[in-house]
Amino acid sequence: MGNHVRVQAPLPAPQKVAPMYFGAVFLITPMRYNIPTAMAHIISVVNQKGGVGKTTTALNLAAYLADAGKFVLLVDLDPQANATSGLGIDHKTLAAGVYEGLIGSHSVRSLIHNTDHHGLKVLPATQALAGASVELVNADEREHFLRKALLEVRNDYDYIFIDNPPSLGMLTLNGLTAADSVLIPVQAEYYALEGLTQLLNTVNLVRENIKPSLEVMGAVITMYDGRTRLSREVLEELYRYFPDKIFRSVIPRSVRLAEAPSFGKTILGYDPSSKAARSYERLAREFMLREEGRI
Ligand SMILES: Nc1ncnc2c1ncn2[C@@H]1O[C@H](COP(=O)(O)OP(=O)(O)OP(=O)(O)O)[C@@H](O)[C@H]1O
Ligand SMILES: [Mg+2]
Repeated sequence: MGNHVRVQAPLPAPQKVAPMYFGAVFLITPMRYNIPTAMAHIISVVNQKGGVGKTTTALNLAAYLADAGKFVLLVDLDPQANATSGLGIDHKTLAAGVYEGLIGSHSVRSLIHNTDHHGLKVLPATQALAGASVELVNADEREHFLRKALLEVRNDYDYIFIDNPPSLGMLTLNGLTAADSVLIPVQAEYYALEGLTQLLNTVNLVRENIKPSLEVMGAVITMYDGRTRLSREVLEELYRYFPDKIFRSVIPRSVRLAEAPSFGKTILGYDPSSKAARSYERLAREFMLREEGRI
């Protein structure tokens, strides 16, 4: 467990450069592009297909990262509010949520809730979000509402995860535009490869038209059943086509994972010794290793 004191990484020491023209001495601090910053890495969890494990992955990965001492915010951008209720918050009783942050009627910081996990907070979804996609359609810079809203809290966290709805509508476009990277849960099933190819094409479109810096962090295989030939074949095929893009940590099909949200708990809170819990813990470790390479 980390002590959750947020320390900004030290800047590299400025380099002194040799004396230059006419004997004048210039001390130059060269421009650097890889200075670690205190800004959160914003990751959108996306797949236009429903029920593939987006929310489960966002919730549990976020919980294990918080458990490892990171400061994590989970943004519930889905009107179904599954991430909100999965963290034990009754979205029907909330007066305001991410929608009010999007339209700017409330400060985002005032809308954020604590969870059972130290270091993990949530920006919840409420019913009001259902109307947002329609309302945003005719607005100026309509894809940028979430990106602008999150600027207020970007320095408060190491990671901000966005749980997107199963569509490529206005909410998901906001979810992608606000993000630095995309994480794609893929269910180990027959059409997985086609689905992933289609989604990567969509991400490319967003990159070309809205957000050139958007990166694909990788795909996480979910609901894997090693006893079935189909699951094994799908896994092999995905690794063959996207060797660098598939996380090595595979999430098994698990009743415990499906049960946990009905108790308002992550798998870390519900059954931390289960196989599924260990798989999300491994995924969090792999995620952090990739992050070290990213800075
Ligand atoms: N590895 C797993 N094993 C068994 N059940 C799982 C697993 N992952 C998720 N589930 C269950 O499958 C259902 C769909 O998962 P989840 O809600 O995470 O998918 P989603 O992609 O967020 O769905 P939606 O597109 O509706 O937002 C949920 O009931 C969840 O509890
Ligand atoms: Mg979901």
